[in-house]
Amino acid sequence: MERNIIETAMRILGIETSCDDTGISIYDDKAGILANHLYSQVKTHSDYGGIVPELASRDHIRKTIPLIQAALKEAKLTGQDLDGVAYTAGPGLVGSLLVGASIGKSLAFAWDLPAIPVHHMEGHLLAPMLEDNSPHFPCVALLVSGGHTQLIAVTSIGRYQLLGESLDDAAGESFDKIAQLLGLGYPGGAMLSKIAQQGKKGRFFFPRPMIDRPDLNFSFSGLKTFAANTIRDHQADNQTRADIALAFEEAVVDTLTIKCKRALEQTGFKYLIIAGGVADNLQLRTNLAVMMENRGGKAFFPRSEFCTDNGAMIAYAGMVRLKHGINLNLIISVRPRWPLEDLPKL
Ligand code: KG4
Ligand code: ZN
Repeated sequence: MERNIIETAMRILGIETSCDDTGISIYDDKAGILANHLYSQVKTHSDYGGIVPELASRDHIRKTIPLIQAALKEAKLTGQDLDGVAYTAGPGLVGSLLVGASIGKSLAFAWDLPAIPVHHMEGHLLAPMLEDNSPHFPCVALLVSGGHTQLIAVTSIGRYQLLGESLDDAAGESFDKIAQLLGLGYPGGAMLSKIAQQGKKGRFFFPRPMIDRPDLNFSFSGLKTFAANTIRDHQADNQTRADIALAFEEAVVDTLTIKCKRALEQTGFKYLIIAGGVADNLQLRTNLAVMMENRGGKAFFPRSEFCTDNGAMIAYAGMVRLKHGINLNLIISVRPRWPLEDLPKL
């Protein structure tokens, strides 16, 4: 069904509570980001070596409203100055999602504004749109986070076709598991990448999973086991840990790069979006940027703080959905599992 697109300026409050970060932002499509606040629960969960869903939702309850108040204060706005409230409705942890959804819907109702349910991965996918140098379409999007590894054909904003995804662990999840075995804490993706900088090239070589198959799916569990066995069989001195971290990072980055190249060849698209927490990985960014340059195309990334979970990407995706018209109702519902392809086409 064709909808009228609203062309007037908009200012949206974005609420992200799908996992262990409370992200609150106000986005204005003329002035850009007016406020952006993030509370990370890393300390809460690090003792447990992973996210404890019950603790996550309790922390969101504590932090969401104070952060919204702080964002409004920083932007010198009240609820009356907004055009909509966007919140992450899935995929994610159901308790965490429900906190953002309940607060978002309630504020929208109190302020007489539309409440906009946003797909978390559409938020990640559109995060590069927050940059001056924003993506061109059609393009391939590589979404790499703690929960997802997906290749998507994006013909325009809101039109997504899944090309391939991980059949087991997500890339970020495998980074975190190996980081943990290397004693780097949780979530250790960024830390693993940091110690890999001291690693000696060529000491270890890890397999590049699934690259002999023509499809665009991924599997990281075999690589993870290979890395875990290598850690078990070697001394845990700093140099060895750095060498293993480097070999692991190289294997993941190479695998992602090979599959991106294949997706570009299959679609014939010239542009690539890389988004989600793992898109913050410098090695991945460099490899993909060089690969795109060699192909005469271009890679687009969000800035570092918008790779990992944040409220700005939710405000932006919410604005896009609101401009195209959304079904408004008062039911608070969230979807812990939610294929990106199920979104209404824009
Ligand atoms: O998108 P995100 O913040 O949360 C989810 O939606 O999952 O992604 C978090 C993931 C974690 O697994 C984290 O270890 C990984 O992104 N990550 C990285 C880096 N920075 C964050 N992985 C590799 N290298 C990095 N520099
Ligand atoms: Zn995320």
